[in-house]
Amino acid sequence: MANTNCAILSTGSSYPEGVLTNADLERMVETSDDWITSRTGIKQRHKAADGEYTSMFAVRAARQCIERARIDPIDIDLVICATVTPDQILPSTGCIIQTELGCHRAAAFDLAAACSGFLYGLTLANQMVRTGQSRYALVIGAEILTRYVDYTDRQTCVIFGDGAGAALLGPAEGERGILATRIRSDGRYTEQLFSPGGGTRIPPTAETLAEGLHFYKMRGNELFKVAVRSMADVSREVLEEAGYTASDVKLFIPHQANQRITEAVASKLKVDESIVYSNIAMHGNTSSASIPIALDECIEMGRVREGDLVLMASFGGGVTWGAVLMRW
Ligand SMILES: CC(C)(COP(=O)(O)OP(=O)(O)OC[C@H]1O[C@@H](n2cnc3c(N)ncnc32)[C@H](O)[C@@H]1OP(=O)(O)O)[C@@H](O)C(=O)NCCC(=O)NCCS
Repeated sequence: MANTNCAILSTGSSYPEGVLTNADLERMVETSDDWITSRTGIKQRHKAADGEYTSMFAVRAARQCIERARIDPIDIDLVICATVTPDQILPSTGCIIQTELGCHRAAAFDLAAACSGFLYGLTLANQMVRTGQSRYALVIGAEILTRYVDYTDRQTCVIFGDGAGAALLGPAEGERGILATRIRSDGRYTEQLFSPGGGTRIPPTAETLAEGLHFYKMRGNELFKVAVRSMADVSREVLEEAGYTASDVKLFIPHQANQRITEAVASKLKVDESIVYSNIAMHGNTSSASIPIALDECIEMGRVREGDLVLMASFGGGVTWGAVLMRW
């Protein structure tokens, strides 16, 4: 079967109502609104309440997608949930979402690539749609990171927030669609951002929980440099592959990790700050949910118009990174 174009047909997003402001954090750890704002750009992040869990927000974001695309959930062939904070180990959060949505004919699974999970998912789903193996594919990034944040560690607790974003992919006509994708990883940098306990290597016990081994540990400073370099490099690669330069891009959505990382990547790519989208002040870093939430906001705000070249780039624990270039 001949390859067909694959495009994002609709998006959706959802996040907890609960908000943790910098002022709240000032009361919890030795930090200040000034430090957090100047070092990260973050003013607040959404935080799930007790009883709220990852698939709740994933399902809400995905329902928005399905409603906006006006399709029947039964026609969705593929559900990929990018997450490093699943509802539970088994079954996959993808299968839980599938059941809630009624996509009973789909293949559903989770994808663990941290903050790059959504772009990893887009890359895989794009191939499935292009080759005709799937007609409609849902790619969701959903996280409740605040469950894995140590609120005595001032370096990590100011950064992470919760939320979910989703995109529905399907066949597209003409110029529209995903033009180039590139995903990469390098496990040698594992310890720059990781959760040492709670798996089969260090199973959860009362002791490991008391020691906080399930919490995220981060070497922020080292990660910062790798993030800037890899996001800029991989962005150039997809642009080159599709035959464009950064000056052709109308909207750049980088993973919302740190405002200073965003600015450094934009400067390396020589893109004007007016085309760079940032919502980090309101959401913090929501890992795999950050790009789909941002994309959904851009569409809602009319920041992306038909025919625009849209570049997305991400970076995350693993370490993983990637970029996707599409014509809207
Ligand atoms: C975490 C991060 C904000 C720290 O900013 P930084 O400018 O690198 O700061 P440093 O780590 O060099 O720390 C500078 C000082 O601030 C202190 N500090 C760290 N967190 C602080 C906080 N929340 N409030 C106040 N001071 C803090 C450090 O202890 C250090 O103090 P010292 O000089 O007395 O040792 C930054 O490194 C970062 O964003 N890294 C990337 C993280 C990321 O993107 N993670 C997710 C990947 S997807």
